[in-house]
Amino acid sequence: MTKSDIPFDMVVVGATGDLGRRKLLPALYFLHKYGEISPKGRIFAVSRQKGTRETFLELAAASSKRHIAPDELNPQDWESFTKRLDYVTVDATDGATYQPLSEKLADRQNRVRVFYLATSPNLYGAISRAIHDAGLITPKSRIVLEKPIGTDLQSATAINSSVGEVFGEDQIFRIDHYLGKETVQNLMALRFGNILFEPMWRSEHIDHVQITVAETLGVEGRGGYYDKSGALRDMVQNHLLQLLCLTAMEPPARLEQDAIREEKIKVLRALRPFSLEEIEQKTVRGSYRLGAIAGETVPGYLDEPDVDEKSTTETFVALKAEIENWRWAGVPFYLRTGKRMGHRVSEIIIQFKQVPHQLFKSRTRAIQPNRLVIRLQPDEAIKLGLMTKRPGPRMILEREELNLNLADRPGAHTFQAYERLLLDVIRGVTTLFMHRTEVEAAWTWVEQILEGWQELGGRPRSYNSGTWGPPKSIALLERDGRSWYEHIVDLER
Ligand code: BG6
Repeated sequence: MTKSDIPFDMVVVGATGDLGRRKLLPALYFLHKYGEISPKGRIFAVSRQKGTRETFLELAAASSKRHIAPDELNPQDWESFTKRLDYVTVDATDGATYQPLSEKLADRQNRVRVFYLATSPNLYGAISRAIHDAGLITPKSRIVLEKPIGTDLQSATAINSSVGEVFGEDQIFRIDHYLGKETVQNLMALRFGNILFEPMWRSEHIDHVQITVAETLGVEGRGGYYDKSGALRDMVQNHLLQLLCLTAMEPPARLEQDAIREEKIKVLRALRPFSLEEIEQKTVRGSYRLGAIAGETVPGYLDEPDVDEKSTTETFVALKAEIENWRWAGVPFYLRTGKRMGHRVSEIIIQFKQVPHQLFKSRTRAIQPNRLVIRLQPDEAIKLGLMTKRPGPRMILEREELNLNLADRPGAHTFQAYERLLLDVIRGVTTLFMHRTEVEAAWTWVEQILEGWQELGGRPRSYNSGTWGPPKSIALLERDGRSWYEHIVDLER
C-alpha cells in the first residue's frame, strides 16, 4: 500500500448513521493517523439533521470512543484529525439545499471529489440526481455506493440506471467491504502468485469447497432494515458470492478491474439455477431464537426491536451451489452464513480429494485428504493440512497443519477493509469494486432462490442462538457424505 498525496474532498452523505460512525469515521481516522492520506484532504459530513461543526465533532468524539480501540485513540491524533472534519446540513435528495456545501467546495474544483452515500440504497438515484442538479459533479468526482444495491434484480437495475444517468460507470465505486479484507486479497496472491495451487485448483483434485461467514452478533439495532432484507440478501448476494467468485474464477490476464470482473461474471453466470424441488433440498433457512452467546442470554430474532413478530425473514442460510463449467463440474460449493452463531468466524475451506492409492493403509488410521483453510476472521490465517509421519519408530501418519498466521506478521498498522477501500477510491483504483453487471448477475441467481422460498411458503427453521444453525444445515452435507469443517475445536485450541 502506497501512501497517497492526492488532495481530496470527501462528502459523506449520512455520516451520522450507523455505518458512518462505526466504520467510515474510524477508517478515515486511521488513514490520517498513519499518514496514508494527503494532509490537504477534507471530509464533509452531510446529513439532514440540523447541526454545526461543533455538534458533529461532539458526536464523532463520543462514537470514536466506542469504535476505536483505546490504544489507537491518541488525543493528539484525534485532535489533528478533526481539523479535516466539517459538517453541513443538507437534504441530500433535494438539489436546492446543497448551496452551503457548494460554497465550501467551490474553491477546490480540480481536486478529487468523493461522494460517499452511507444512506438507504433506495435514495441513491435521487441523491445522485440532486448532486448533479446542484452542479457538484466535476470531472474528478466519484460516487461510492454501499451494498445492498437494491433488494432484487429489478430494483438493482433501477438504481444502477438512475445513478448511471449522472455518473459514468468509471466514476461509480460499489463497495463490498469483504473485497477489502486482507485475507481475501491473499487468496488472489495464493492462487496466482504461486505455481503450486493452480494445477490442483479443479474438479480432478478438489472434492468440495465450504464458505462460512458466521457472526455472533444479532441484528444490532438494525431490525427495521434487516427484517426486509434477511441473510440471503444481506450476506449471500454480495459477500459470500464475491468470495465464491474469487475462489472459483479463472486466472485473470491482468490485475485490473475489467479483467477480474470478466472472470467473476463468468462464475456468476455459470452458477446452476435451482428448480423448486432443489430449493427445498439444497437450501436451508433459519431464524435464531433465544439462546446464549459467550455465557450471556440473548433474545430471539422475533423479539428484536423493529422486527415483525410474525416475521419469516431468515437470519441463517446454508446452500449447496454448483458451478457449471469444465473446471468445477461436480464440485459442490457449500455456503453458510448466520447471525447469533456459536463463534465469529469467516473461512473458505478447500477440501482436496483423497489420495488415489492408500499406500499406508495397513499401518495407520485412514489418510485424511489435504485441506486448505483460508481464514478471514477473527484472525487472518492460511492453513494447509498435510499428512506427516508421527515421530517414532513406526510408520504412523497424522495430519499436521502448515500454519501461515498472517496476523502475527511484523509490520506497521494492519489495514481494515474500509481503510483500504477508501484509499483506493481516493486513488481511483477500481479493482476491488463491483461493476453493475456483477451486481446484476448476482441478483439474477439469488432472486430465483427468493422466489422459490416465496412459492414454497413456510417459515425458516429455528435454531438456538449460540449454535451452528438448524440441524437441516448439517443434513445438507451429511446427505453427500460430508460434514461442515469443525470450527469450534479449532477456534478454541
Ligand atoms: C454487512 C452486513 O455487510 O456485513 C451486516 O450488512 C454484517 O449484517 C456485516 O454484520 C459483517 O461484516 P464483518 O466485516 O463484520 O464480517
